Amino acid sequence: MRQVEDIRRDFPMLVNHPDFIYFDSGATSLKPQCVIDAVTDFYAEHTSNVHRGDYAVAVENDSLYDGARRTFARLINCDPKEIIYCHNVTQAMNQIAFSMAHDFLHEGDTVLISEAEHASNVLPWFYLQKEYGIHVKYMPLDSQANVDLAGYEKCFEDPSIKAVSAAQVTNVLGSVQPIKEMAAIAHAHGAYMIVDGAQSVPHMKVDVQDLDVDFLGFSAHKMCGPGGVGILYGKKKLLDAMTPMEFGGDMNARFADDGSMILKETPVKFEAGTPNIEGIIGAEAAARYIMDIGLDSIHAYEKELRAYFVEKMQKLDNIELYNPDNAWGPIDFNAKGVFAQDAAGYLASKNIAVRSGNHCAKLLHNIIGTDQTIRASLYFYNTKDEVDRFVKAASEISLENAVGIFF
Ligand code: ALA
Repeated sequence: MRQVEDIRRDFPMLVNHPDFIYFDSGATSLKPQCVIDAVTDFYAEHTSNVHRGDYAVAVENDSLYDGARRTFARLINCDPKEIIYCHNVTQAMNQIAFSMAHDFLHEGDTVLISEAEHASNVLPWFYLQKEYGIHVKYMPLDSQANVDLAGYEKCFEDPSIKAVSAAQVTNVLGSVQPIKEMAAIAHAHGAYMIVDGAQSVPHMKVDVQDLDVDFLGFSAHKMCGPGGVGILYGKKKLLDAMTPMEFGGDMNARFADDGSMILKETPVKFEAGTPNIEGIIGAEAAARYIMDIGLDSIHAYEKELRAYFVEKMQKLDNIELYNPDNAWGPIDFNAKGVFAQDAAGYLASKNIAVRSGNHCAKLLHNIIGTDQTIRASLYFYNTKDEVDRFVKAASEISLENAVGIFF
């Protein structure tokens, strides 16, 4: 990997705010100049809609917009036609759940999820339970939310399990799930494998063909790209069989006054309405940027940084860590006896950004015994020096000085 000091010069937020410690990349990442340039160039040099204009700028944007699918396909190793643009992982998971109910599952079927999942991989399935009679069950996890493969396989003694949906890396504890093995077991029992890749695709090489997953969602804003762009990957034959959740402009080839319609082919049939064109162009620049740095190098660097961080945090008497043994991902902790948001307020007063609370994973308290924690989530632009400064600030958190600074 390039030297981190050099990488940091790509990020205006880091250059303009050298004392600011940003440990909240699990919520959204910082953006490098090349992404900012790609978005602003669209506004300054080549603004238009896509799939609707025949003038030169519109044709250029058609090519940038559809051409970007090739870059995202390279990122996760699939066919560009298997890349569907949406707004975020939440929308991707909702489309998948909708299609599961509409096209693939039946009343009485069961979807297997876990208690460590983000709301976007829980609530759509509960909706199916309520409205379509599709059941939801939880797979067994260890105390740091890692899937227990033997226990997972045992779940399939229930023949009603027809889909599994899990984050490849959970958003709070950073548990890295054995997705390839889980997919093989699911398929052996005739079940679909659905993956939330929000916290994995930005940080590690994800190969959907090697993993053999049926669906995967990820978001550009967590991988150095702009907000409002999600990608839904699905196996082409499944996407072709799926009904879109939204109807409107561009996704139809024609429709008549009796309501009959002919939809365009995958992927466009899923992209109703004017998309986030500048966001997608910026997201492509982001995908190129992280691939140029190297996903394997990013992963290895973050692993080393996390190990350094955990070792230092474990020495602090005032800190309780919830996921020290996970090899990678965010660090989740509390300052003993201090409300998480008050502690985060203290860190904010030291110019440190973290997320506190339940992090949208509102069932996780069943595993770790609290629904209020502090999450420090790192990315490849963070440094050991920042970790040292963070640990010093964390060591100072106490009931007396955590004053509850809210934003
Ligand atoms: N899903 C994002 C997080 O985990 C927002 O913080």
